[in-house]
Amino acid sequence: MEEKQERRKRIVLIPAPAQGHISPMMQLARALHLKGFSITVAQTKFNYLNPSKDLADFQFITIPESLPASDLKDLGPVWFLIKINKECEVSFKKCLGQFLAQQQEEIACVIYDEFMYFAEAAAKEFKLPKVIFSTENATAFACRSAMCKLYAKDGLAPLKEGCRSEEELVPELHPIRYKDLPTSAFAPVEASVEVFKNSCEKGTASSMIINTVRCLEISSLERLQQELKIPIYPVGPLHMVSSAPSTSLLEENESCIDWLDKQKPSSVIYISLGSFTLMETKEVLEMAFGLVSSNQYFLWAIRPGSIVGSELSNEELFSTIEIPDRGYIVKWAPQKQVLAHPAIRAFWSHCGWNSTLESMGEGIPMICRPFTTDQKVNARYVECVWRVGVHVEGELERGVVERAVRRLMVDQEGEEMKIRALSLKEKLRASVLPGGSSHKSLNDFIKTL
Ligand code: UDX
Repeated sequence: MEEKQERRKRIVLIPAPAQGHISPMMQLARALHLKGFSITVAQTKFNYLNPSKDLADFQFITIPESLPASDLKDLGPVWFLIKINKECEVSFKKCLGQFLAQQQEEIACVIYDEFMYFAEAAAKEFKLPKVIFSTENATAFACRSAMCKLYAKDGLAPLKEGCRSEEELVPELHPIRYKDLPTSAFAPVEASVEVFKNSCEKGTASSMIINTVRCLEISSLERLQQELKIPIYPVGPLHMVSSAPSTSLLEENESCIDWLDKQKPSSVIYISLGSFTLMETKEVLEMAFGLVSSNQYFLWAIRPGSIVGSELSNEELFSTIEIPDRGYIVKWAPQKQVLAHPAIRAFWSHCGWNSTLESMGEGIPMICRPFTTDQKVNARYVECVWRVGVHVEGELERGVVERAVRRLMVDQEGEEMKIRALSLKEKLRASVLPGGSSHKSLNDFIKTL
């Protein structure tokens, strides 16, 4: 017994402080913990994940920083990332030093989110093995890297809207068009490129873990391997690897599950645009009119603060539209549970990578309405490569919404997408079972520790 204790090793993980990054990092932490590692999570004060009883086995430490909570809202996520990386560079070194001084266990490695690149220098100083964790996919990485190269060669010209024909493909990134490149809705290209340059640098990291699946993007993974020249471990979908601890930063409204229980199988479209997408009031209202006139049942999660310039509650917002009984609106849903519910037939999504994996993992076809960065890349792949969804582009008006919903929920085309989505679901399930590619990849990674 004692001997076993002595050999136990600890892993330090540094998530980026955003919902779409914290959840997969905690799923990875859980998977590693189940393999016998002790876990320390070093997180910022900003968007602090309150350790719940689900996370009681993990140790949490705080990286000191003095970022006001309003900064993300004021700066937007790209400038915020630049700032947080500068802010934590020195403080994390100090924090890691203090933590190591009190440690009994050997540190197997430091795993840091690719956007928390400040962690690399600190881990290097203490001669700890370093591993990058990518919560996005390999194609998104290839696109970020391509954006940096295009910018270095030709400046802003190839990346600015209107400089190319809408449909022009980026060389070697088929079927990605210039307009699908992961530019940000929140910051100029120069700022995104600064973040991307850093996040695409491996520094002294010895490997990368990535929340994707080999069968989804074989060629992008090979490309990533060639570019970084370190082992790449695709271990996803992580939410299917380990039973998810509760990592929601917002309170989940469980009442929508009771509502779904009352609906017929495969009869409801779920709508959610993730943790930081914004919509104009006009778009939300057009969406509501389109959903109502599609005559389909719908469950809609509208996050507080997600409507630009509006502080209205959902009830106030829809005071002029009669939402029929076949519609149910919540602020934040238990999304994984929703997508696994037999009543769900389709998902209107912003195509954040977690949402995309969660949808594909349940065999749910998607209506893709990306808002920013990698979501555009994911939407393109959902429509053109995996062929389990439709990408709604251009102005969002009620007729467009109604047609898209009916295409998925009623038309033969939707039926065919559903069949492909179910087949993809089986492939993803197989990948995380013994003998599957992600299962093997996680074990291969663990052997290196
Ligand atoms: C962003 C990026 O777009 C994404 O690709 C990147 O990897 C992380 O940051 P985000 O807007 O957070 O993503 O979306 P997504 O990656 O889909 O993550 C959102 C998470 O919130 C999902 O795990 C989803 O299940 C959860 N969610 C969302 C809820 O639990 N309830 C909701 O009502 C909405």
